Amino acid sequence: MSTPVFTLNNGVEIPVIGLGVYQSAPEETAAAVDTALRTGYRHIDTAAAYRNEREVGEGIRRSGVDRSEIFVETKVWVSDYGYDQTLHAFGKATGKLGFDTLDLLILHQPAPARFEQTIAAYKALETLLDEGRVRSIGVSNFTPAQLDRFLGEVSVVPAVNQVELHPYFVQPALQAADAEHGILTQAWSPIGGITFYPGWGDDRRSVLDDETIGAIAAAHGKSAAQVMLRWHLQQGRSAIPKSTNPVRIAQNFDVFDFELSAAELASIDALDTGRRGGPDPEVDRPAFYDFVIDEA
Ligand code: A2P
Repeated sequence: MSTPVFTLNNGVEIPVIGLGVYQSAPEETAAAVDTALRTGYRHIDTAAAYRNEREVGEGIRRSGVDRSEIFVETKVWVSDYGYDQTLHAFGKATGKLGFDTLDLLILHQPAPARFEQTIAAYKALETLLDEGRVRSIGVSNFTPAQLDRFLGEVSVVPAVNQVELHPYFVQPALQAADAEHGILTQAWSPIGGITFYPGWGDDRRSVLDDETIGAIAAAHGKSAAQVMLRWHLQQGRSAIPKSTNPVRIAQNFDVFDFELSAAELASIDALDTGRRGGPDPEVDRPAFYDFVIDEA
């Protein structure tokens, strides 16, 4: 089966569902990537900060699927921001992955107190794009205000803004800002993993157990995760569900044979709590930014 795609603002196609590997242990990552590619996925999303780019490359090679068929996305970490540093970070990422080119390279965080370095990092991405070493470039976790400030300084409009987005944190203003600029919104934690990951607060309610989503899932004979992924796709968002479990990896890709009604989509939108599960991108976090990304 060929994977449904969205077309980015520079004409490059991105498969609508990718495998996420945030919190995938290195020893499980290669197997998860291999399984996903054999299942039909053609998009893998990783990051220097996840410390598993090497295993992503290994999983891709293990699968036997040709590199040219796979959309490989990774992220530059804040400690590598700056023009020369980010060019070097590209070398670290490609060295670990074992590929010469990337399909999408994005800045992992906006780093508000390091705006100049963030811009310089993005200018390095523009150079890499110009030289054909990456096919598209973008950002992650940028708020509408940060995007406005950023777009005043850069030449290439980001193709993608990857942000926290699930039924308990829908970010309508952010989605509108992305759409206005022609930026594809890409959802991290698309099935709400952040609402139940250990260590992220005790009073959390897992969106996987939500009654409204459960009722919609029962009506379609699908799981809650599948309903959430369908909600993203029908509203035009790229989604990168993480799983290392072969059954759930397959389930998260089996979302192309049913359709949610407008009323069902609206009832999922209405679950928004406005409460972020992950870190606030407007708050500077120097200690968090400064961990060092290994050389390849
Ligand atoms: P696992 O890797 O054991 O499958 P998100 O991508 O929204 O952050 O969610 C990831 C979390 O959801 C992980 O804990 C993952 O665990 C779990 N998960 C992934 N797919 C499914 C699914 N189809 N049903 C239930 N849980 C899932």
